[in-house]
Amino acid sequence: MLHFPVLLEESIDFLITNPSGKYIDATFGRGGHSRKILDSITKDGALLALDKDIDAIRFAEENFKDKNFSIKHTGFEDLDSINIAKQADGILFDFGLCSTHYDDPLRGFSFSEAGPLDMRIDKRQTKKLEDLLQTIDPETLANIIYQYGDEKESRKISQAIINSYKDGRILNTIDLAEVIKKSKTRLPNKIHPATQTFQALRIYLNDEINNLRAGLNKSKDLLKTGGRIVCISFHSLEDRSVKQSFAPKRISYPKEIPLNNEVVKEFKVVAKKIKPSASELQRNKRSRSAIMRVFEKI
Ligand SMILES: C[S@@+](CC[C@H](N)C(=O)[O-])C[C@H]1O[C@@H](n2cnc3c(N)ncnc32)[C@H](O)[C@@H]1O
Repeated sequence: MLHFPVLLEESIDFLITNPSGKYIDATFGRGGHSRKILDSITKDGALLALDKDIDAIRFAEENFKDKNFSIKHTGFEDLDSINIAKQADGILFDFGLCSTHYDDPLRGFSFSEAGPLDMRIDKRQTKKLEDLLQTIDPETLANIIYQYGDEKESRKISQAIINSYKDGRILNTIDLAEVIKKSKTRLPNKIHPATQTFQALRIYLNDEINNLRAGLNKSKDLLKTGGRIVCISFHSLEDRSVKQSFAPKRISYPKEIPLNNEVVKEFKVVAKKIKPSASELQRNKRSRSAIMRVFEKI
């Protein structure tokens, strides 16, 4: 299946404030947003894209020959390695995975086709899902499933995964999904019963929430005054972390210092909680959980 970029028109409208400016697409994927950025800037403008996934980098190298485009195989948590302090006009984050990740069973994210217990976004990472299952204890696993998957039956699922894995009954992603399904008493109507647990395992294994926070914090130093950060999230944990990253900072002084506590505001909110239109929802089911927020450096 093709990857449909989510909130495409809306995100690029907010992102581009200067057609000859410098932009960063921190999550290139299959370049849906990057293509639209390149179409919206002049030849004096520039776009640098990042992705942690080597397949995205290969796709960009084959399909994006524009002179003002470059791409780096880097995680956005390492945005400080990019030497453009205070020069960027806009940075886009479209978090999570592309549909191409789910479509390729060999990546280990699919519960409809058997694939290895992998789930790494960055293949340079040594720890795969298999390594996690070999070492994790039931309580830690239950907490991960609860915290990152919002799964109410986390304890039962965790115990079932650990027992079945030890007995050699989980050899691929389909086995894992079946064990999860059988351990649940309440089956959801609209999604596969393993959806929330797979999401939790993926977020934990790839350290997605810590990376998101680090990426957003580092991106602040790269922006010019008036530059914008556009974030598209796909679940409440991501969206909450985005909101917190740009909340005004409270500085409290100890009693001995005769200064009033202060609130420091580095960013203003340009747009919040923007959701896909009815026609986008109809075209692309994956967009249903998307929420966009836009911030501007002041
Ligand atoms: C939702 S997709 C982006 C889709 C893209 N906007 C498009 O239109 O094709 C998210 C992408 O972010 C990448 N990604 C996930 N975590 C990352 C990280 N920490 N640093 C850089 N890229 C990351 C994934 O590999 C994936 O390609």
